[in-house]
Amino acid sequence: MDPLKQSFASTRLNKRMRVLSLKDLDAYSAYTLLNQNELRLCIEALVTHHTRFFREDEHFEKLSSQLLVDTAGVIKLWCAACSSGEEAYTLAIILDQWSRKGTERRYVIQASDISEQAVSVARAGIYRQSALALPQTDWLARYFQKGTGSQLGKCRVKAEFRAKINFHSHNLLTPAVEKIARDGPYDVIFCRNVLIYFEKSTQQAVIGNLLSCLKPGGHLIVGMAEHVDIQVQKITSLGSGVYKKM
Ligand SMILES: C[S@@+](CC[C@H](N)C(=O)[O-])C[C@H]1O[C@@H](n2cnc3c(N)ncnc32)[C@H](O)[C@@H]1O
Repeated sequence: MDPLKQSFASTRLNKRMRVLSLKDLDAYSAYTLLNQNELRLCIEALVTHHTRFFREDEHFEKLSSQLLVDTAGVIKLWCAACSSGEEAYTLAIILDQWSRKGTERRYVIQASDISEQAVSVARAGIYRQSALALPQTDWLARYFQKGTGSQLGKCRVKAEFRAKINFHSHNLLTPAVEKIARDGPYDVIFCRNVLIYFEKSTQQAVIGNLLSCLKPGGHLIVGMAEHVDIQVQKITSLGSGVYKKM
């Protein structure tokens, strides 16, 4: 393992190793491989959930001005590595805004993350109001319900928009789980700010899994600081983390 990644893993897993009285990462890995519950705790300790609404908003701008225009029939989106849901709800807002401007179109949004904790936060759709930072102030009332009493300062995505997204727990290193695969192939897949945590060969495997769920001519969007090797995969780069499947 890359020494930097090894040191990162040791730091994150230190507490679990102490609880279990295991002396190093090798001993912890051997234990974890035989223990499903520890594997879940290990995943939760390792993942980083940093995200926000309209993060890297150039992608959402491109989605509504260009990528959606190229679609036909039911629009199918998959938000892979959705963390606590902000990215998936941003997609629902964009789709709603887009439908309001033109012909109403049916759409499907699947969203997934390896972390079961993140997926349950995403399903609940409750966020601090101060963390919303929406591009238009009237979107707060349109898409969210303000909390009162013990929920003061928090907002919940309105039920009708929560119902637009199906959240699942899914590991990108494996082929898409049945519930995600059956809605495919997808027009656009967002898989942003997660590839950086993987080694090169793992990145290729993840991209391969994602591309197998994408329509020919469909788009894969990765984080602005991430890159996909277009020599290895059958895709073209449109710049800023946007790729088109050939
Ligand atoms: C930094 S967040 C990015 C969230 C969002 N895509 C964004 O750009 O704001 C990375 C997410 O990837 C998830 N993740 C890490 N490894 C994963 C894997 N193998 N399969 C699925 N999700 C994974 C983490 O749980 C975390 O929620």
